[in-house]
Amino acid sequence: MSAVSKASDAAAALRVEGLTTSLKIDGVWRDAVRDVSFALAPGETLALVGESGCGKSLTAMTVMGLLPKGVGRLSAGRIVIDGVETSTLAERDFGKVRGDSIGMIFQEPMTSLNPVLPVGFQIAEPLMQHRGLSRRQAMERARELMELVRIPAAAERLKSYPHQFSGGMRQRVMIALAIACSPKVLIADEPTTALDVTVQAQVLDLLGVLQRERGLGVLLITHNLGVVATNAQRVMVMYGGDVVESADVGDFFAKPLHPYSRALLAAMPRVDRPTSDLAPIPGQVPTLAELPDGCRFQSRCPLREEACAVRPPLTPVEGGRRHVRCVVLARELAGDLPREGTA
Ligand SMILES: Nc1ncnc2c1ncn2[C@@H]1O[C@H](COP(=O)(O)OP(=O)(O)O)[C@@H](O)[C@H]1O
Ligand SMILES: [Mg+2]
Repeated sequence: MSAVSKASDAAAALRVEGLTTSLKIDGVWRDAVRDVSFALAPGETLALVGESGCGKSLTAMTVMGLLPKGVGRLSAGRIVIDGVETSTLAERDFGKVRGDSIGMIFQEPMTSLNPVLPVGFQIAEPLMQHRGLSRRQAMERARELMELVRIPAAAERLKSYPHQFSGGMRQRVMIALAIACSPKVLIADEPTTALDVTVQAQVLDLLGVLQRERGLGVLLITHNLGVVATNAQRVMVMYGGDVVESADVGDFFAKPLHPYSRALLAAMPRVDRPTSDLAPIPGQVPTLAELPDGCRFQSRCPLREEACAVRPPLTPVEGGRRHVRCVVLARELAGDLPREGTA
């Protein structure tokens, strides 16, 4: 069992093992997400971080069973949601598990809310479909859910359309919709990226409260390390479709290990540091066709050496407390010889 799977099989709200997602690019299937494993306990938040294009959303879409047909596929691995293995289910059965046990919110609510339907109806619909509630019962429940996510004047606002809400309120509607059927798992993909800082904090607070009250396991996808520090217990860093580091949040911020994790942290704006100290990460995330064999970070890595041409394993370090995918670091940490300038 890896460091990112503390939850036992029975206790896990979500368990992912060896998930590999391939995309068909110009007629060639390429692995865009490789061998990702983690488990999410009820009430726990696991953050998935990395620059744009690292495979975070694809991981989420794969877990949700929402890969575009013919373009994306689950090439290997198991997905177990609330005790049910969904990776082997037919689409129809998967749809039921998805509606029942897992909810998802996105950066832009307008892409998942229907612009021509009142929000109350949109929240009520899955309750009629998945919970067998009558229309009246479902609308009553929709009103309660709107109150739960603290939308003022919920009863009246049931009849409003998505565009009549502010960005923050619209994200609350999305949350109400995502938790309508009391799922065990919530995937939040950049849920506050489009919001200004104050509204962002309010929405994250709300998510935290709902999570504690309902014991939700949350997979929080973000490129914002500040959001990770204040909202997650564990963190998984992705680069080029690989998990390159996984750790408890405290350990991670005290001492990021992987060169990519360090680069991410050095590029992060902080209140206690002048912005002139920010170190942008040189280079770019390669496209899928350009990704190198071996370590996928090698083209941007200051520690690069010959051994990096072979794909490094995700190696337990610090007594198994955390994992890192870097041969150079794994060797140093095994020998317990801190390398100058990297501690
Ligand atoms: N529908 C698609 N067609 C082609 N390439 C895609 C598609 N979706 C994602 N990709 C590619 O897969 C990689 C991972 O993307 P994604 O999971 O969206 O990254 P992230 O969410 O971390 O920003 C990127 O290289 C991206 O360009
Ligand atoms: Mg994304």
